[in-house]
This record gives sequence, structure tokens and C-alpha cells, in this order.
Amino acid sequence: MKGIILAGGLGSRLNPLTKVTNKHLLPVYDEPMIYYPIRCLVNAGVTDIMVVTGGNNAGDFLKLLGNGKDFGLKHLNYTYQVGEGGIAEALGLCEHFADDEDICVVLGDNIIENNIKDSVDAFRAQGGGAKIILKAVEDPERFGVPTIEGEKILKIEEKPDKPASNYAVIGIYMYDHTVFDIIKTLKPSGRGELEITDVNNAYIERGNLTWGELEGWWTDAGTFESLLHANKLVADTGANNT
Ligand code: DAU
Repeated sequence: MKGIILAGGLGSRLNPLTKVTNKHLLPVYDEPMIYYPIRCLVNAGVTDIMVVTGGNNAGDFLKLLGNGKDFGLKHLNYTYQVGEGGIAEALGLCEHFADDEDICVVLGDNIIENNIKDSVDAFRAQGGGAKIILKAVEDPERFGVPTIEGEKILKIEEKPDKPASNYAVIGIYMYDHTVFDIIKTLKPSGRGELEITDVNNAYIERGNLTWGELEGWWTDAGTFESLLHANKLVADTGANNT
């Protein structure tokens, strides 16, 4: 399985912090934000990793991360997303890197307390399709939200006004190689982006999306409130602990 970290986009919700640097290079407590998703993959045994970045400061990723020695890696791959056409657009840039293998995708502003090893192992055993991870939250309207019936997800809505459940689809996704065919069929959403939620809904329609629930805390860090929250969580308990 290969790992992909999506750290493109322009981070406009964090202006002016992101005027002279990339959102994923901002500190979360004692480390740059991008360290946490990298460690999330490495801790799950995924060590062949592509970082997708963008904006005016993409070169700083190379200066900071190099070949990933701080994470015990021998090599890191990089690619560049022009503009911010959406999470699914950024993922679409990785087709050549994925080379028909399964992939585990982590959004560059998502931080978890523990690890995703069990989910990654379960996906490896699943034999194709997709797997997503859910977490109960107090503000589901900020996220992709599943409609759940029994054990089944019927659909996912992106930032719904009236959430159908109190679960967020967190920014860690596992896909087989057909994800790149799905991405090629997507149309931009109302916010002008190729949405990862549309990718997940395509797998639901095919009947091969499974899900698990994350243990331990999870947060994104893309708004002032969530960035502050992330700093506090990491300072209090640490991240990527197991
Ligand atoms: O954090 C989980 C949520 O992330 C999910 O619940 C949502 O379904 C999903 O759409 C996403 O929501 P956001 O609106 O919070 O995503 P955001 O635009 O903040 O992008 C998250 C990361 O994805 C960002 O840190 C870098 C990467 N990204 C984003 C865009 C728009 C890219 O690499 N390229 C892009 O064009």
C-alpha cells in the first residue's frame, strides 16, 4: 500500500497566517502540522509516501522534510497542485505514483491521537473497494456527514445544513486503484472543487465502501478555532501516540 498526503490548497481560512507560508508548515504545538499526517502513515506501516503541495511556498516542504530521514524514511515523493481545485483533484495527481496499488490518503491538516493501523490492516484484507473512518463530533455540519442505517452508510453529504448523524468522515481514506477512474468522472461542486465526498459516494453506489470508527481524539487544523484546539490537544496528550 502507498501513502498520499494532501497538503495543497491555499489555506485562505487561515489568512494572514498563510500569506507567507503554507498552512501545513504552521506549528501545531512543537512540530510543523505536516509532521502529524506523515507519522500517521509511518506508524501504520505505510512508508512509500507522496506529498502533494501547492501555493507559493512549496519549496519549503523540501527544505523541511528532505527525504524523510526524521521519520525513518529513505525517500519522499513530491508533486505540485496548481490552484486549489479540491481534494479529489489533488489526489488525481497521484495516479502515476500509485501505480495500481491500494492507497491510504491523509489530509495534511488532520491530526489523530493514536493510530490507524487496524483500519489499514482491515483494508488490506478487504480486497479492493474503499474504507473510510468516522468520528462522532459536536459540529458535524463542518464536515462530510454519513447517513447511516444499521451498519450501512447510505450516502455522505458535504457540510450539510441539517446533518443526518453526529459523525464526521475524517480526512483519512483508503482506496483501490479504481479511485482514479472515479476522479476522472467528477464535476466541480458548488464551491468549485472536485470533492472527496463525491468519490466516497461513488464507492457507496458500487456497494464497496466499508467504514470503521476512530478511537482516541481527531481534529482538523484548518480554521483558527480548530488550529487552537489542535495545539491544545497535542500539548495536553501528544499525538500519534501508539
Ligand atoms: O477534515 C475532514 C474533512 O476534510 C472532511 O470531513 C470533508 O468531507 C472534506 O471535504 C474536507 O473538508 P474541508 O473543507 O475541511 O477541507 P479543506 O478544504 O480544509 O482541505 C483539507 C486538506 O486537503 C488541506 O489541508 C489540504 C488538502 N487540499 C485541499 C484542497 C481544497 C488539497 O491538497 N488541495 C485542495 O485543492
